[in-house]
Amino acid sequence: MGDRIFIGGADTEGTGQPNGAQTLLLNRANRHGIVAGATGTGKTVTLQILAEGFSAAGVPVFCADVKGDLSGICVSGSPEHKLHPKLISRAEKIGFEDYGYGATPTVFWDVFGDKGHPVRTTISEMGPLLLSRLMDLSETQEGVLTVAFEYADDEGMLLLDLKDLRKLLNHMGDKEVRDTISREYGNVATASLGAIQRRLLVLEREGAETFFGEPALKLQDFMRTTRDGRGIVNVLDSTTLINSPRLYSTFLLWLLSELFEELPEVGDPDKPKMVFFFDEAHLLFNDAPRALLEKIEQVVRLIRSKGVGVFFVTQNPRDLPESVLAQLGNRIQHALRAYTPAERKGVRAAAQSFRENPNFDSEEVITDLGVGEALVSTLDEKGAPGIVQRTLIRPPSSRLGPATEAEREAEMQNSPVLGLYDEAIDRESAYEILLKREEEAAEAAERLAKEEERAEKELKRKKTKTTRRRRSTRMTSTERAINTATRTIARDVTKYVLRGIFGGRSR
Ligand SMILES: Nc1ncnc2c1ncn2[C@@H]1O[C@H](COP(=O)(O)OP(=O)(O)OP(=O)(O)O)[C@@H](O)[C@H]1O
Ligand SMILES: [Mg+2]
Repeated sequence: MGDRIFIGGADTEGTGQPNGAQTLLLNRANRHGIVAGATGTGKTVTLQILAEGFSAAGVPVFCADVKGDLSGICVSGSPEHKLHPKLISRAEKIGFEDYGYGATPTVFWDVFGDKGHPVRTTISEMGPLLLSRLMDLSETQEGVLTVAFEYADDEGMLLLDLKDLRKLLNHMGDKEVRDTISREYGNVATASLGAIQRRLLVLEREGAETFFGEPALKLQDFMRTTRDGRGIVNVLDSTTLINSPRLYSTFLLWLLSELFEELPEVGDPDKPKMVFFFDEAHLLFNDAPRALLEKIEQVVRLIRSKGVGVFFVTQNPRDLPESVLAQLGNRIQHALRAYTPAERKGVRAAAQSFRENPNFDSEEVITDLGVGEALVSTLDEKGAPGIVQRTLIRPPSSRLGPATEAEREAEMQNSPVLGLYDEAIDRESAYEILLKREEEAAEAAERLAKEEERAEKELKRKKTKTTRRRRSTRMTSTERAINTATRTIARDVTKYVLRGIFGGRSR
């Protein structure tokens, strides 16, 4: 069994028939998978036993805990637990003789830093495409945001947190700056800038402020194994995050794309480098713009050769676009309802996605499956889908149900990442740089104003002597200063700030 994870088997108790154990081959886990089923049919428990299996095989796992009921994975099941008799009886039904209780090494994360270690990224790392999705920007606005990123890059300004982005957008709103940027990078309309700033406010209100900044997550901290060779299960507490579905799905997508971009090619490894469970996966695709869909498809297709398996968890397979669905080799389908014509269509589609079993009609069985029971088909040694089997999913070894606050807290205190992310740091980036420039510009302005005042006085004094001198050729000291500044620090943003402030003053 070292090369596979046990998923479950047929209920053959008392029939003398073999159970037909269903397993997931570790070297096929990077061919991705899907866990689908209506509410309460057993998806989360299936996710739990898969995560346990990967961890035991030394594969680190990431999963989001949307309802908080996955947190029990960090503690052992127990004979005292009320579900004990049910779990034991299920193990017996499927002939699972080695069944026993045990905890899984878990690291809790929480973008809000509340029920887990904070997980952060920087604005730059998130990039304009995902940020646009996060803020629900139009194509034009996305173009402007992309320009903002390029501009900040060229100016050597880091974009770490939301206040960096806000400051940068303010700065770009200045007429002089905007004109120059429009000339050099592409048109930047005031209306677009305003719209982005308003969306930014919405994002802040959703609490996104906490997850942009540093220390940003290092992927190696997600890919840890314990000393005894078990993979860490990273549980992202999403009980709050899920209230902002766009934030939730974009954040998970960002994680995926990070894995994709940072991990080296490994082809088809004996076991995955990491397995990623994407719960409530339909949120990812809900009214996603074309460009994003293409990116998702691409990431899913290519991340395979980086040794990452992605398992989508969703109510109905039809929640996922066909192009993504076609790439999911390992399938666990829990019960679906079939009351409406649309639902019946969904059931048929789900049934037809399986390699047929001559012994039963998948379409009928899908609506008849009990809780914690599923139609299962995994990829075989050759990478071909196995014949679909009606399967009772094995009971978990860790606790079925949530961990208590105390248990979670204890797990966090023992965490291998304790202290690495818990305090936010705020180093110099666009906000600080622009603020400093503004202050310098204001000081310079003040200096110039004083100089000018002095010059005026001087002039008055002279005027009384030579009253006939023509005024029009005279350059004010402010103009002189601007000219000098423009010449000497050409292409330095300071000049725009300087001019901007003067422009503002003269208006
Ligand atoms: N493999 C299993 N072994 C034992 N009991 C199970 C199993 N799967 C599901 N159950 C029982 O069914 C209940 C509901 O399962 P689960 O929470 O996994 O459903 P779900 O599909 O995730 O639901 P939701 O869509 O509401 O999140 C569990 O709390 C548990 O009591
Ligand atoms: Mg669930």
